Amino acid sequence: MSVADLPKVELHLHLEGGAPPEFIRGLAAEKKLDIAGIFNPDGSYAYRDFWHFLDVYEAATSALQAPEDFHRLTLAVLEQSAANGVVYCETFLSPDFCGGRDVSAWKEYLHAIQEAAETTEKTSGILLRGIVTPIRHFGPEKARETAACAQETAGDWIVGFGIGGDEMAGRPADFAYAFDMAREAGLGITAHAGEWGGAQSVADTLDVLNPARIGHGVQAIEDPALVDRLAERGTVLECCPGSNVFLGVFPSWQDHPIKNLRDRGVAVTVSTDDPPFFHTTMRYEYNRLAETFGWEEKDFTAINTAAAKAAFCDEDTRNRVMKRLEPDNA
Ligand code: ADE
Ligand code: ZN
Repeated sequence: MSVADLPKVELHLHLEGGAPPEFIRGLAAEKKLDIAGIFNPDGSYAYRDFWHFLDVYEAATSALQAPEDFHRLTLAVLEQSAANGVVYCETFLSPDFCGGRDVSAWKEYLHAIQEAAETTEKTSGILLRGIVTPIRHFGPEKARETAACAQETAGDWIVGFGIGGDEMAGRPADFAYAFDMAREAGLGITAHAGEWGGAQSVADTLDVLNPARIGHGVQAIEDPALVDRLAERGTVLECCPGSNVFLGVFPSWQDHPIKNLRDRGVAVTVSTDDPPFFHTTMRYEYNRLAETFGWEEKDFTAINTAAAKAAFCDEDTRNRVMKRLEPDNA
């Protein structure tokens, strides 16, 4: 069996970031929206660097204007995930893009997303859960409104709270109140850090937001004491190596620290982040990791088990996922 065929757990996928460019182009045409500038002549997304990527991401998201659009998006994204052998996925959802953080609009968008997830669960067996995610560069006030949306919908489907966007915008302390609201609602906590902000950003995020998981976190490799702290604390890193290499955080797969972090006892997991934007898939990630670091089936099984243990879902769901990771049960 090729490692790419293994059943997989993916903890770090932005729902809008999973939108195939042709899907967004189709929606934009239906809505007579001119966003042609965000595409290359070959149809792929066009951007220069991470910060431009965030602009292009928001422009693409502007084509998603109604709950029905998110219903279609969820079907399209989950179809890809299931085809890549993903059996359980947690996706970042931003009320900013789903009715502008209005709680009743957010509930309608969420309902549409969940309905699509139920359909795909029946057809492909893939399980989806949501992580409500403010956009950091939209600021702390909007993050608090987003946290209010999270509080209203926290439960067995909305299972976590995170933060994405420009890591250089503001400090973790600016968002502490929003994270406290989410924690009080019983949500699992994750935060993007150490993608662009260096090891210090990871350390500050641990100190102030106390997350169980970190989105990326890979720049922690610059600080050996921090690597030890992550290992001792059992912090799970949602690593997205293909995203990091494509965006130039590391110059090549060989230079990516995922193996080094794992060898030093850090719990690493593997995800795609925004697969069509970074020309990746879960199969591609596994193939590249196997080829670069010599990882075999036992390594990926250990990584998937760690991911299932770190999932924010309830225990019953976790047990179902664990079963699917056993050989011949996918
Ligand atoms: N939003 C979507 N993708 C992201 C990434 N890689 N980092 C931060 N925010 C994001
Ligand atoms: Zn991300």
